[in-house]
Amino acid sequence: MRLYGDLAPWFHLLTSPADYEVEAARYRDEILGALPEARTLLELGSGGGNNASHLRTHFSCTLSDLSPQMLSLSRTLNPECEHVLGDMRTLRLGRQFDVVFVHDAVMYLASEDELRACLGTAYAHLRPGGVALFAPDFTRETFVPGTDHGGHDGTDGRALRYLEWTTDPDPADTTFEVDYAVCLHEPGQPPRVVHDHHVEGLFPEHTWLHLLEAVGFAARLVPGDPADDDRSQPLFVGRRRL
Ligand SMILES: C[S@@+](CC[C@H](N)C(=O)[O-])C[C@H]1O[C@@H](n2cnc3c(N)ncnc32)[C@H](O)[C@@H]1O
Repeated sequence: MRLYGDLAPWFHLLTSPADYEVEAARYRDEILGALPEARTLLELGSGGGNNASHLRTHFSCTLSDLSPQMLSLSRTLNPECEHVLGDMRTLRLGRQFDVVFVHDAVMYLASEDELRACLGTAYAHLRPGGVALFAPDFTRETFVPGTDHGGHDGTDGRALRYLEWTTDPDPADTTFEVDYAVCLHEPGQPPRVVHDHHVEGLFPEHTWLHLLEAVGFAARLVPGDPADDDRSQPLFVGRRRL
């Protein structure tokens, strides 16, 4: 995916850290509601570190991602956080945390086996009684195809705008597709347009809950509010059984 590869240095113009303040406060409140003494947090698929830039004021954060370029970008925003290269399906740091958090990066797991592997990674990195919080953009029940657009002007003369087009060619399978058309402006260069195609995963809520329980969590669903952009994500909260 080019957005997390050669285009990673543009990511904060696609989606700005400041836009995550309200959303991140919801995740913080959910975590502290489940585990008031939570202190250490591992994020899987932390990307540009946008959520982490808010969560790190409450938790000591270790940030992991599959993309070295995204980790480099996140280091510029979150220099005090530990950054680790790793795949959320296989990462094993040999350490345990109070909290494991997985935001929209979980959408890139396209099969049930991959989702189960990620839940296993979360379990392996939690102390008994620790809490995992998963915030997928959609479940099968909440998914809606559509278009979105956005982008930002940078302070260095660069600017980005994008169109995001979400479709589900086969509603019977566990994937949907997102096409991004991204227009990039930078000083001294002609504007350029890049197309990026992403395949993402979509699972019914009972699959999420069943897999969480099977891996060793006491699991519950906190429904999102589709009318509120900052609270639209369904949350799956798992407490690692003792
Ligand atoms: C939309 S970005 C995440 C942004 C993040 N929520 C934030 O607050 O900045 C998605 C990220 O998922 C990462 N990713 C995709 N598949 C992954 C995997 N299997 N393991 C770890 N990271 C993965 C990508 O490299 C990318 O950085």
